[in-house]
Amino acid sequence: MRKKLVAGNWKMNLANLFELSPNEDVDVILFVPFTHIGVNRHLKEGGFNLGAQNFYPAESGAFTGEISASMIKDAGASYVLIGHSERRAIFGETNEFINEKVKFALKEDLIPIFCVGETLEEREKNITFEVISEQIKIGFKEVSEEDAKKVIIAYEPVWAIGTGKTATSEQAEEVCLQLRKLISELYSKEASETVRILYGGSVNMKNAKELFSMPNIDGGLVGGASLTAEFSEVIKGAAK
Ligand code: PGA
Repeated sequence: MRKKLVAGNWKMNLANLFELSPNEDVDVILFVPFTHIGVNRHLKEGGFNLGAQNFYPAESGAFTGEISASMIKDAGASYVLIGHSERRAIFGETNEFINEKVKFALKEDLIPIFCVGETLEEREKNITFEVISEQIKIGFKEVSEEDAKKVIIAYEPVWAIGTGKTATSEQAEEVCLQLRKLISELYSKEASETVRILYGGSVNMKNAKELFSMPNIDGGLVGGASLTAEFSEVIKGAAK
């Protein structure tokens, strides 16, 4: 059985965690800005996990402005976001670079939440699956089955991120099921049943329960609704 997981992506914002309480049915990860990983380290004793929103895939060196996987781990984070659509669109990250990051993170024992998703134009052209399948195939290139099982995939349709326009639970389930079949083809049935697949894009306290109850959706990656007390309700939406 795959345990449900809800991840909050604060992006370049700060959140009010006042009323956040853990739930034993659900793994919770907070992707906070770099400078707030250390500050929030105490949350790990409260049953939460910490993640970084980015890193650079090299051990050290002349990469002004970048942060390494080991620095992130030293600060107290165990997870890292890779392939988020904002990194792809604003910072020009390609599938090939994302593959480098996936491999490097795994080598350094950081668990990737690997995001994939189509734009509205791609959905309207009916090429959603081609786009996502290319993102997955390149992203997992040269990743062993043992490592692939550790990766958490997040299906985030670009048109649903920060827009208030959520995919219906049927649309999200359809793609998550296709993603699971793809993992089965690339690796094995066992790998496809182990990998957790999240949905992200305008998840809120009203739609969380229905989305997370779909058979192939193991939880969510939550932006806006992770910044306030609403996040507790979203977490409850993933509980049994
Ligand atoms: P959103 O963001 O929940 O605000 O749509 C999701 C994300 O970017 O991961």
